[in-house]
Amino acid sequence: MRVKIWFAVLILVVSPVGLFGQSQQSPAVISVDAAHPGAAISPTMFGIFFEDINFGADGGLYPELVKNRSFEFQEPLTGWHEVLGLSSKGINNPKGELSVRTDHPLNDSNPHYLRVRAYESGYAFYNVGFRGIGVESGAEYRFSAYVRSSGAKAIRATLTDGAGHEIGSGKLGGFGDEWKRFETVIRTSATAQHAQLNLYLDEPGEIDLDMISLYPVDTWKQRPNGLRKDLVQLLYDMHPGFLRFPGGCIVEGRQLVTRYRWKTTIGDIAERRTIINRWNDEFDTKPAPDYFQSFGLGFYEYFQLAEDIGAEPLPILNCGMACQFNTDETAALDQLDEYVHDALDLIDFANGPATSPWGKLRAQMGHPEPFHMKMLGVGNEQWGPRYVERYKVFAAALKAQHPEIKLVVAAGPAPAGEPFESMWATWRQLHADIVDEHYYMSPEWFLSNSGRYDHYDRSGPKVFAGEYAAQTVATTSSENRNNWRSAIAEAAFMTGLERNADVVQMASYAPLLAHVDAWQWKPDAIWFDNLHSYGTTDYYVQKVFANNVGTRILPVTPEDVDGLYTSASLDERTHELIVKAINNSATARPAEIRLKGMNPSGTAKITTLDSADLSAENSFDHPTAVAPQSSTLDVKSGTIPVELRPYSVTVYRIPAQ
Ligand code: AHR
Repeated sequence: MRVKIWFAVLILVVSPVGLFGQSQQSPAVISVDAAHPGAAISPTMFGIFFEDINFGADGGLYPELVKNRSFEFQEPLTGWHEVLGLSSKGINNPKGELSVRTDHPLNDSNPHYLRVRAYESGYAFYNVGFRGIGVESGAEYRFSAYVRSSGAKAIRATLTDGAGHEIGSGKLGGFGDEWKRFETVIRTSATAQHAQLNLYLDEPGEIDLDMISLYPVDTWKQRPNGLRKDLVQLLYDMHPGFLRFPGGCIVEGRQLVTRYRWKTTIGDIAERRTIINRWNDEFDTKPAPDYFQSFGLGFYEYFQLAEDIGAEPLPILNCGMACQFNTDETAALDQLDEYVHDALDLIDFANGPATSPWGKLRAQMGHPEPFHMKMLGVGNEQWGPRYVERYKVFAAALKAQHPEIKLVVAAGPAPAGEPFESMWATWRQLHADIVDEHYYMSPEWFLSNSGRYDHYDRSGPKVFAGEYAAQTVATTSSENRNNWRSAIAEAAFMTGLERNADVVQMASYAPLLAHVDAWQWKPDAIWFDNLHSYGTTDYYVQKVFANNVGTRILPVTPEDVDGLYTSASLDERTHELIVKAINNSATARPAEIRLKGMNPSGTAKITTLDSADLSAENSFDHPTAVAPQSSTLDVKSGTIPVELRPYSVTVYRIPAQ
């Protein structure tokens, strides 16, 4: 006992927080009017924005391990090289030849294939993967290829680790002179972050190959062509309200010809046409010449992912405009038919019966039930009169045939000024459904904008905070950090989204994913390498908010005062009051939650996310350095004394009898 008392005295003496912070501050009163629940909070409130940027799809969520599996990159042998050295038959650098051809291809959407000629036994070539091939010891990988052979009888595959040691092998054989798919499973004996896939012709001969694939067997839900498990798990854990896909600027393309066309992303993966990824050459400082879109992760997989993680699907379609920051190419108004039909057909693909033209395809792909899509975006981040003209054409057709689908429109790239103001004026006039706002701003902006929606017109279009992230240095700066400073500012801002949930119906952080060796844009919610992943501080703020969203707003005061930001809601499903309090100050803060009109007793569940160090970051070595901590609190009345830790986000779930 004596030891404990001394220890306490010591803390009081040496801790300036104890002396000048918590003990001298009178408690902040967080007053929640539990007797007057306000508007309903949309179940879609906090969701996910997905874009194939930073190797988010190919090389990331889509876990194909072979880069350029179908030889459709601009440089058709990108990722492929000859193996040099002594062959197993003792021949030094066995002679052979690799050529990419287009005569009698696998199909018209996949016009290139590889012809291999081995003049000597043991000729071999290898694939480097997406910045290496990540494999786990003891795991299984499906090695497959379409093969046509006029001589060669077998192809042997080995996996070698960074030091060149063999860690797995397999063989395909029995080929004929017509294209046919062959597969075998390779089990690896060691873990490697940067393995390579080597393919050998042990006898002289000639062979044609396409869609050469090495694919983990252990995918999310064990699906062939399934998604990378650890990354989906992080998304699933968020319980996101919606999944917006496929972007982002990728919807627009740098030119219209490279815009995202959902119809080329469904059906047999061997028939999905590979195109350049617009992030390939967007930033001179971050060139990614090997960044293409295979569309192995296509619209069917996006809808399936949304369903798997319990999120409403929100596809965004091109509206006849390429990226206005790039070519600004626009389809003439009388050329919009194809675009509008893409939208109408997408509704059929997602929601039509299994007998409808596109619903049938969905059913053939394995999902006879509709995906119940309720929202559709017309254009990404567009602005100006040309956009409005094109939106009107879309809206006329879509609203006539599908009044049940809510349309999401854009307000340009910035959160204020022109063209933001004029776009909003137009959308109000046109009674648009949902307006998508984007803000890549400083942490200070987020802190001072938590009241942004307090005075929005309640009778106008709803708001979708469709892309936001605090930029610690500057927008698109490669020096931006995912640190606690950015994350706590986003949390403070998000209390304002929640308090205004009658206007703000959806919000998503952006971008979502980034490969540590292949990123173009920082900050990002989740970072990964070939084998591991972690959620950033910003990810955990998103998770904590999405996991704790109520069904009705509760009035709360103060909303935002002196570094304290609050929101409150009622969860009618679990009969709990949810109070969120963000303490953006360096000292602990005594506070009192006062519930007007309710006198609960029981155990409150507390989730705390905090770090006294604003520069704190999560990392591969310390993936949960800043992560939610759970605790409980006995509640005896409507006045609940609490203490908010320095620089903290705290969520209280209070039983509401
Ligand atoms: O999130 C990165 C990019 O930012 C998106 O593609 C675009 O919509 C915005 O400019």
